[in-house]
Amino acid sequence: MSLDTATQPPAADDQDLTALAAQLPLEDKVRLVVGAGLWSTIALPEVGLRAIQVSDGPAGVRGVSEDGVETSASFPAPSALAATWDVELADEVGALFAAEARRHGVDVVLAPQVNIQRTPVGGRHFECYSEDPHLTSEIAVHVVRAAQDRGVGMCVKHFVANDSETQRTSYVSRVDERTLREVYLQPFERLVHDAHAWSVMGAYSGVDDGTLAAPVLEHRPLLTGVLKDEWGFDGVVVSDWVATKSVEGAVEGGLDLQMPGPDGPWGDGLLDAVRAGRVDQAAIDEKVVRVLRLARRVGALAGSDPAGSHRAAGTLPDAREVLRRLVARSMVVLRDEAGAWPVAQHGPATIALVGPNAVDPFVQGGGSAYVRPDRRSTVEEGLAEAFPGATITVRPGAVSRLHPPRLDLLARCAAPDGSRGALVEVLAADGTVLAAEVVTDWSGWLREPQADAAAVRIRAEIRLDEPGRHEVGVGTVGAHRLVVDGQELSTSTHRVGAEVILDSSVNQPAPVVLALDVTEPRVVALDATVQAVHPVGYASFARAELVHRVPATPAEELLADAVAAARDAELAVVVVGTNEEIESEGYDRTSLALPGTQDALVRAVLAANPRTVVVVNAGAPVVLPWLDEAPTVVWGWLGGQEWPEALGDVLAGRTEPAGRLPWTLPADEADVPVPHAVPVDGVIDYAEGVHVGYRGWLRLGRTPAAPFGHGLGWTTWRYDEADARTTPSGDVLVDVTVTNTGARAGREVVQVYVEPPADDAGDPPADRPVRWLGSFAVVHAEPGARTTARVRVDARALRTWDPVRSGWVVPAGTYRLRAGRSSSDLRLDLDVTVAGAS
Ligand code: BGC
Repeated sequence: MSLDTATQPPAADDQDLTALAAQLPLEDKVRLVVGAGLWSTIALPEVGLRAIQVSDGPAGVRGVSEDGVETSASFPAPSALAATWDVELADEVGALFAAEARRHGVDVVLAPQVNIQRTPVGGRHFECYSEDPHLTSEIAVHVVRAAQDRGVGMCVKHFVANDSETQRTSYVSRVDERTLREVYLQPFERLVHDAHAWSVMGAYSGVDDGTLAAPVLEHRPLLTGVLKDEWGFDGVVVSDWVATKSVEGAVEGGLDLQMPGPDGPWGDGLLDAVRAGRVDQAAIDEKVVRVLRLARRVGALAGSDPAGSHRAAGTLPDAREVLRRLVARSMVVLRDEAGAWPVAQHGPATIALVGPNAVDPFVQGGGSAYVRPDRRSTVEEGLAEAFPGATITVRPGAVSRLHPPRLDLLARCAAPDGSRGALVEVLAADGTVLAAEVVTDWSGWLREPQADAAAVRIRAEIRLDEPGRHEVGVGTVGAHRLVVDGQELSTSTHRVGAEVILDSSVNQPAPVVLALDVTEPRVVALDATVQAVHPVGYASFARAELVHRVPATPAEELLADAVAAARDAELAVVVVGTNEEIESEGYDRTSLALPGTQDALVRAVLAANPRTVVVVNAGAPVVLPWLDEAPTVVWGWLGGQEWPEALGDVLAGRTEPAGRLPWTLPADEADVPVPHAVPVDGVIDYAEGVHVGYRGWLRLGRTPAAPFGHGLGWTTWRYDEADARTTPSGDVLVDVTVTNTGARAGREVVQVYVEPPADDAGDPPADRPVRWLGSFAVVHAEPGARTTARVRVDARALRTWDPVRSGWVVPAGTYRLRAGRSSSDLRLDLDVTVAGAS
């Protein structure tokens, strides 16, 4: 049995690339390993090289145009894809990434994110796939392979152990070698070996693996030793944005491309370092060859077609159809009292649609994963399509936001020239206007103004029509002056740099808000000047959030209104969840509770109407204290642009919600094995070792609200029998026969878990997890039908890292394979005896 994941085959015509690199002047070589701007490398037309365009990822392809109006297909946040456990859907998502990349002129998508959901409070939890490395790997391998087969590169991120956001540019993850190998490196290893990933992004954070504590980009043993030398990764290691901190250290460490550029440590100092002999030119040549190889793969080098694009040209996917099916399938039925749902056949005449997220659904998390969606629709529209003829009453029912939401520029604002929107002027230090435009959508980011930009001035008249108390304001960081209706709200002379986007202590501006009592419609003037930031190597931008809250109805009134609507309706649908104040890049969560008064809303609606379905619109776990009281609860994810319609499909029973949790749902925050991610003296200690996620829960003997792998769907299943045989290569093929015992067609995710052989004393071995996911397969069956799932448990699923010998071993003995519906609902057991290998 071979335990090692072999290396990539050497590229056939690398000699050409080496020859091409050799003919470039040193200056060009250095420019080639530094970004040309925010999202591209340089072009060298004289050798037939055009710029390589990159773009975020991982919930769509945002695009790089500066017009502020470019829209993209907005995918569900990645954990929803993982919740399908469906590698064929992952293939479709990979193909969609490729199609979207082509549409936006992008060569490499900065995705997927294969960090592990180590703690539920992690700010970027929603961007990751799972708390389990195998599920993460399977999904990611299919996404990356499908995209790259179509000639679009994927930049897999963030290598490695970059699993939380607090102090995100500086913390060091202390992880022992075995844990790194078995958990955190595993998806990257699989992506190099099984998907031949063309690019990997090195994280902001550092790793202390017991041999070296260093920023990842300077961690030669990991970046060069493991990734490149041991696994044979022949692609490009890209820095996370502005993560490069050194010249020699990062060159030595294994970084190939500093992003962005053209300045920053490498832009300012790499050429000098080579000339002065501090950096060996051969090291630069090697990086140049890697960049050229990527260029060839994506078709950016003259004479090269995008790799594989001929193989998988095919027809373009219908993005809306794929996304709608994907997100509907991903939804997880957490609870369904017998016969309560779906309600299609009952055809409710009246529906009360209540909850803050029913009014304002949260369909993508905050931070760099954001795309401007191609389309937006309301939950009401989604339900109206699913239940034609039903009367739908919509009520917010609860307060869930701490701060006023983003100001609707299009609906409420007029620029000084009378057009809709806000006037944005880029100012030089002496106040000269360098550029001006009217914007109608404000994400807090501005485009790249010229280098002498010092400030950004935003002016608008804001219409306040509704009587009552309005709140209007601006959230910003650093130097600014804010004037609303002639009244100076706030001013600061503090200047900020790169930390404005990187440091969670500054990048979450609490807005300065003016409360205005409005008795009759009026217009207020907003005039805000904020510093244009020129962080190292980064384009300038202003960090400011324009906010506005319409007169707030007291929470009790909202609740009473929603309860009355629920009582009067045949059916109540409560949509509760998080928002970008809670789930975002840049900071971790401080609580797992649903924000605001949402728990009270759910309880009150349940009391008012027994025919209630609760939908949780969140990416990462939230504690649901009313879970056992609710007849039907569906986990809806951050579903992207097609979410409202997909929710209608699920509630009307048109699409089976076949999702299974890719993480553990805690019942109580106090039970969570890794409850926070706050570095102590700059270090995050991964003391739980390999016992991550459900493995930690099992080891501690704690019972969650719903275990990893849980999900009911709209039908029921019986596990009939299982059978296993071992292939010559050591894989175990497990055939699991199941019967759909319900009245509806359905999809079952058959999961096979592995339990290790007992130790010499006959006890479970203390150092291995109680059980872990071996593999899984998805099957479909009509009501009453029996079907067999073929689950291939790869030989690699049994191995463990031996730190003494620095290699993989499979301990000999009898492994128990347990097939079932979740990590805790195990229906059939099989014992497999393995000779062992090392
Ligand atoms: C994020 C990356 C992202 C990059 C470019 C960074 O701050 O960590 O995930 O790809 O920005 O937007």
